Amino acid sequence: MNTKVFVLKKFKETGRISTEDEKMISEAADVIRSGGLVAFPTETVYGLGGDAFNKESTLKIYTAKGRPSDNPLIVHISDVSFLSSITNEIPSIARVLMDRFWPGPMTLILKRNVRFPKEISGGLDTVAVRYPSHPVANMLIAQAGVPIAAPSANLSGRPSTTSARDCVEDLRGKVDVIIDGGSSGIGLESTIIDVSGIDKATDDLSLINRPVLLRPGAITMEMIEEVLNLKMALDDALKGPLSKDTKPRAPGMKYRHYAPRARMVLISPKTQKDPEEASKKVAQQIPAIIQKIRQDYHKIALMVSSECLELLNVSSRDPKKETKVLMDPTPCLMDMGSVHDPEKMAHDVFNDLRECDRLGVDFIIAEGYPEKGLFLAIMNRLKKAAAWEIIEI
Ligand code: TXA
Ligand code: MG
Repeated sequence: MNTKVFVLKKFKETGRISTEDEKMISEAADVIRSGGLVAFPTETVYGLGGDAFNKESTLKIYTAKGRPSDNPLIVHISDVSFLSSITNEIPSIARVLMDRFWPGPMTLILKRNVRFPKEISGGLDTVAVRYPSHPVANMLIAQAGVPIAAPSANLSGRPSTTSARDCVEDLRGKVDVIIDGGSSGIGLESTIIDVSGIDKATDDLSLINRPVLLRPGAITMEMIEEVLNLKMALDDALKGPLSKDTKPRAPGMKYRHYAPRARMVLISPKTQKDPEEASKKVAQQIPAIIQKIRQDYHKIALMVSSECLELLNVSSRDPKKETKVLMDPTPCLMDMGSVHDPEKMAHDVFNDLRECDRLGVDFIIAEGYPEKGLFLAIMNRLKKAAAWEIIEI
């Protein structure tokens, strides 16, 4: 298949969609309507979209990604009026969350309307729905006139894509169109909240009836709890690797994810609450770890904060630069930015994992952070990228 790349030139420069850009988005919407696949930008990561009502399109999405068919897709809408075809049950706390966080980086798991294609949900009786805030995503969905089923636009198991370049790397020849709308602002996938178990009749918020956080994202647990004025439950898949027999609530959680080609270990300062103190502890560990692994691996990367790099007496803003340091062999430096700027870290994390692959890195040493606010989401992606190989300090 010949994949076309539509570059939204004006949008990338100014953040506004020009008439030229709009023409390309309309053409991409036609592709969706006629059963094709389009990779498109959203504020979280790029999505790989197809018409949610078209079973063939859904199947094509699974094939293009190499995704197991029991791992359901998120349905993207550009207006809450789409909801009536997708679900018949919207608990009142779901409404509160929609009013506060939509359009935006939040996905809700709701009961699926029986007439809505079950292939989207891998046969589950629920469905994941998101109303993104990205203007290009919104225009694409609105012009297509149908909800768009879209997982992240990466090959299954690989880090999510946050630019058209990433999409080309993974999906060239597998999709009809890739829309280049610049880099995704947030860089991590949406927060997923399961409200499907909440009894609509009572909206009873007893323990068993709580909204469950299935995947942390830019809408943090703290933000959700404040709006709902209650404590959320945390899905088991967020707490540690799942055993073979456990059936996770979000089927995607059982697969190895975000995996760079390199082996990766995460140094996690478990008890330290202060981020700078935590960085110090991590920095102290790194030279010894390098000593230990240097025989077996020849291209090592450090994916750490600038505070940590400074403590190690190496500083580089250029991720591709290899700096001579006291450590041997000289590691590639992925400067994740300051521990006081989690937004930048979130924005860079998938790109840095992919960069490690591009540089041929075979071992990544990553810094862990105290899991508050957005760091919960950053740590979730790092743990999974490291396949839960974590050194707790
Ligand atoms: O930010 C995002 O959410 C991006 C952009 C493109 O919108 N999409 C995305 O989709 O991350 P994907 O397919 O990579 O991740 C969807 C996750 C998977 O872990 C899947 O198992 C879970 O959502 N999921 C989907 N439908 C579900 C359902 N009915 N019940 C539980 N989990 C569900
Ligand atoms: Mg994904």
